[in-house]
Amino acid sequence: MLSAKQQYHNLPLWCHAQVGLRSNTLIENCKSNASLPLFGYVESNAMTSALNETTEIFPRHNMIETPTPLTRLNRLSEHFDIDLWIKRDDLAGPTLGGNKTRQLEYYFGAALAKGADTILITGAVQSNFVRIAAAIAAALGMEAVLQLEHRVYNDTESYKNSGNVLLNKMFGARIIYYPEGEDENGADKALYQEAERLTKLGKRPYVIPLGENNAPLGALGYVNCAAEIVAQAGKSQFDEVVIGSGSGASHLGMIAGMKRYSPNTKVMGSCVRRKKTLQKQRLVLKSKHFNDMVEEAIISDFDIQLWDGALAPGYGILGDAATMALKLLAKLEGQVVDPAYTAKVFACIVERCSDMQIQKGSKILFVHSGGLAGLFGYQDDLVKIFS
Ligand SMILES: Cc1ncc(COP(=O)(O)O)c(C=O)c1O
Repeated sequence: MLSAKQQYHNLPLWCHAQVGLRSNTLIENCKSNASLPLFGYVESNAMTSALNETTEIFPRHNMIETPTPLTRLNRLSEHFDIDLWIKRDDLAGPTLGGNKTRQLEYYFGAALAKGADTILITGAVQSNFVRIAAAIAAALGMEAVLQLEHRVYNDTESYKNSGNVLLNKMFGARIIYYPEGEDENGADKALYQEAERLTKLGKRPYVIPLGENNAPLGALGYVNCAAEIVAQAGKSQFDEVVIGSGSGASHLGMIAGMKRYSPNTKVMGSCVRRKKTLQKQRLVLKSKHFNDMVEEAIISDFDIQLWDGALAPGYGILGDAATMALKLLAKLEGQVVDPAYTAKVFACIVERCSDMQIQKGSKILFVHSGGLAGLFGYQDDLVKIFS
């Protein structure tokens, strides 16, 4: 029987970690940032040894100056009569940053540990995940193969060629296309085929898979983020954290981190990709993979709370609720959100304040997960709205 560590090192190069950790070691990993107070949640001795083991099994390539800022939104707090804060993960990582940097720290950590020289990744045409991977690959001198899926019907020049797509080209990445947008396993298969082809040419490719049956390695980044938030909030913890839920990696990591460090903080996922019944099924499955990965049953089905009131008219398309949220945040706070993701996340606060699902006086955190390059990808749509 191989140990978790041996299993990890025996995986083929293009597989990411599917192995587990002993007990709660992974959750303690986020305490690696020496600037964070410990709050007495974990025994520091136990943490130190567990931490070493964790770092060895799940290597992480640091790309973010942490903690990202946590700031009060004064005018909106007054507007809604709540205590509203923003976590500036739009500042996390290179070039217009975003939540995906925290996830990619673990994928690149694994890729570098395996000696990879090429990263393969798949996502929508205006994917932030793909763009941030291309930026990190450029900084590391690795090649990036970006597979862009036709997930959104948007024929505008800005969607097809500006925003994230333009940045991908500036980073020198190679772009390939996949004709389907709702076929994650097919998209992964195409990436693995490309990886095999590159291997035959003498390359050392590493695939970052998308399908729901893979261990959500990137979720570890949001365990770290939860620890940061708890440290920043100090004695007055949040009643609720609102975060985007697409692949679900950020959402699941945040649930696990909050359960460990601030169990009374509720985590609400705002659906940006699919309706909440489908997203719930996905996250129930992925939470099992997460629990297996960390060898701790930390996330239960009950913890997975979702809201999909701003998803319409669909993934990657700006609807009324999201437009209103985008306008309000810009006008009252001078903060900008993107049409595909963060406008829909912020709408989750706006709408739920309006229909009293968020109680007056609550302390609420909006996780700004970035996506700002998308503003240029959606420029034609935005110009119409603001003309
Ligand atoms: C800006 C932004 N916010 C939120 C999300 C959703 O994050 P996750 O895929 O971890 O659920 C994404 C996903 O692409 C994103 O790009």
